[in-house]
Amino acid sequence: MNNVIKSGLKLSLASLFAVAVLSGCSSDEGAQAPQQSQGSSGVTAPAPSQPKVADVKPAEPTAMPKMGEVEQAVADKVEEVKQQAESETAKAVASAKTGSMVYNACVGCHGAAGEGGVGPKLAGQAKEAVMDKLHKYKAGEQVGPMTAMMQPIASGLSDDDITLVAEYIASSFK
Ligand code: HEC
Repeated sequence: MNNVIKSGLKLSLASLFAVAVLSGCSSDEGAQAPQQSQGSSGVTAPAPSQPKVADVKPAEPTAMPKMGEVEQAVADKVEEVKQQAESETAKAVASAKTGSMVYNACVGCHGAAGEGGVGPKLAGQAKEAVMDKLHKYKAGEQVGPMTAMMQPIASGLSDDDITLVAEYIASSFK
């Protein structure tokens, strides 16, 4: 979209410029008038070399719309492919989510092997016990004295996350 608008703008600026130069050319010297109208229309190309302008500008109107169309088509295709890739990646990630991935958010406080740290030791706890506590934190229930630290983390877990991470803790940490 933007490219089309831009090339359209360039085109109309180019023709504006050509008109300004041509009309300036037919009267006297014309060096002053074109520069003033350029300033107000935002065209910055230097005015004096009129023959050059006449040589260069006619070539652009035929080339630029094509460029715009090609660029638009490429942009559309890129967007389409990108969206396909994104939805497929999202599906793959959702179906490949593991307890180990969920546990990455717990390592800092419970240790890489569930040995405990800021939070209690999780190694050796049964899956059901871990799930039960996580659901309690998530529901806003008081569990231990430091519930306030664990509660916001549990509330960010889905029920599936809780099952996955509890399975992971119970089966991976001894
Ligand atoms: C910011 C540090 C922190 C993070 C991160 C954290 N926890 Fe905790 N966790 C705690 C603290 C502190 C407690 C003790 C809370 C209390 O007193 O009830 C706790 C308690 C627990 C308990 C109860 C343990 C018990 O024996 O009573 C479980 C289960 C648990 N966390 C699982 C997790 C899981 C799973 C994650 C990752 C999704 C996680 N925690 C992330 C700090 C954290």
